[in-house]
Amino acid sequence: MTKLIGLASTKGGVGKTTICLNLAAVLARGGARVAVMDADPAAHATAVGEMGQLPFPVVPQLLEEVEAKAVAAWTKAVRATQADYVVIDAPGALGAAFGAVVAIVDLALIPVGASMLDIRGAAETVGIVRRHRKAGGRGRPDILVVPSRVDRRTGSGRDVVGTLAGLTEPVAPAITLRAVVADSLSSGEPVPAETPSGQEFSALAEAVRIRLETL
Ligand SMILES: Nc1ncnc2c1ncn2[C@@H]1O[C@H](COP(=O)(O)OP(=O)(O)OP(=O)(O)O)[C@@H](O)[C@H]1O
Ligand SMILES: [Mg+2]
Repeated sequence: MTKLIGLASTKGGVGKTTICLNLAAVLARGGARVAVMDADPAAHATAVGEMGQLPFPVVPQLLEEVEAKAVAAWTKAVRATQADYVVIDAPGALGAAFGAVVAIVDLALIPVGASMLDIRGAAETVGIVRRHRKAGGRGRPDILVVPSRVDRRTGSGRDVVGTLAGLTEPVAPAITLRAVVADSLSSGEPVPAETPSGQEFSALAEAVRIRLETL
């Protein structure tokens, strides 16, 4: 069975594309068949994929209309993907793509920074995903909050698990703010596996695998 994972945030710039591509890279390196669907009209994931260094395909799969026919066609295309894991990158806004992603995925990853203002944004996303889950009636998606761009110099960053506990959803291992994370994708590559950041993405992938197994 193909596992569908979606990056979800109503807030932009939280690290969705970065997490999407690096998570996909860890899963692919582990031997799984992985495809990334780029549902963001800004097409950042597609642009990185076009640099030709990623160990999985990035497929542009845009959805800009809320019209039922368009959503159905999009959903059909995503479901037809042959892979063990399909990871979907979405735009950082509420819209057609956000709804369609939440309606289809098994697991919604919600990246969030560790400051109070970041958490307010994430709380909104968590609330919306929960409402979609209830309306969808299939008990999915499951939610995993991913501490992202965590600055260890700040108090809230050092105590990220405590800081995010208020969201009352499971919290994944954190991804620290580091130059190597931004620089790697700028050169079209995932973070090298042996670096501290690479190990953080491996720990995240392990948490995702475990979470999906329990569903
Ligand atoms: N762990 C990290 N360390 C350093 N820089 C990071 C990290 N995660 C993301 N960034 C940087 O933060 C910025 C936003 O990241 P990214 O594009 O992944 O977020 P996004 O949620 O996909 O944004 P958008 O809503 O615009 O699609 C980028 O410049 C990226 O390089
Ligand atoms: Mg993005």
